[in-house]
Amino acid sequence: MARADYSELSKTIAALTEGETDTVALMATVVCELHHADDRFDWTGFYRVTEPNLLKIGPYQGGHGCLVIPFDRGVCGAAAKTGEVQLVDDVDAFSGHIACATSTRAEIVLPVWNAKGELLGVLDIDSDQPAAFDANDSAALSAILNDVFGRL
Ligand code: SME
Repeated sequence: MARADYSELSKTIAALTEGETDTVALMATVVCELHHADDRFDWTGFYRVTEPNLLKIGPYQGGHGCLVIPFDRGVCGAAAKTGEVQLVDDVDAFSGHIACATSTRAEIVLPVWNAKGELLGVLDIDSDQPAAFDANDSAALSAILNDVFGRL
């Protein structure tokens, strides 16, 4: 079963995105590279802050994702509202979880910041495996997001 080699992924993403400053182009590239690198990643996508307290779907890979998530709903909303990574081992135990796919068992959602410290959106990765993600995923994914979006 394939697991992401975050060190390799980080180098590949840096090379592919060098010099690019368009947020959606960067999100599309990051999502594609991540999604195909790890068997745990069954849905991989960004939600973008498009107006105060509102997330809208951005580039993603996997099945249909809901289009709009207010900050006060779901795991994605919690990440956006608190600015903190949400590691959910069991989505059924997370009050307010939005089920886009009934197969989803675990999620990790990370805030995405630019250089000015503005919240651009969140990265949501869903897995059909329970407790799929841990602090290692959180640290490695946060570092990749900071490399790519922290220079905008
Ligand atoms: N499960 C997320 C919603 C997004 S989808 O799973 C693609 C949430 O509770 O925020």
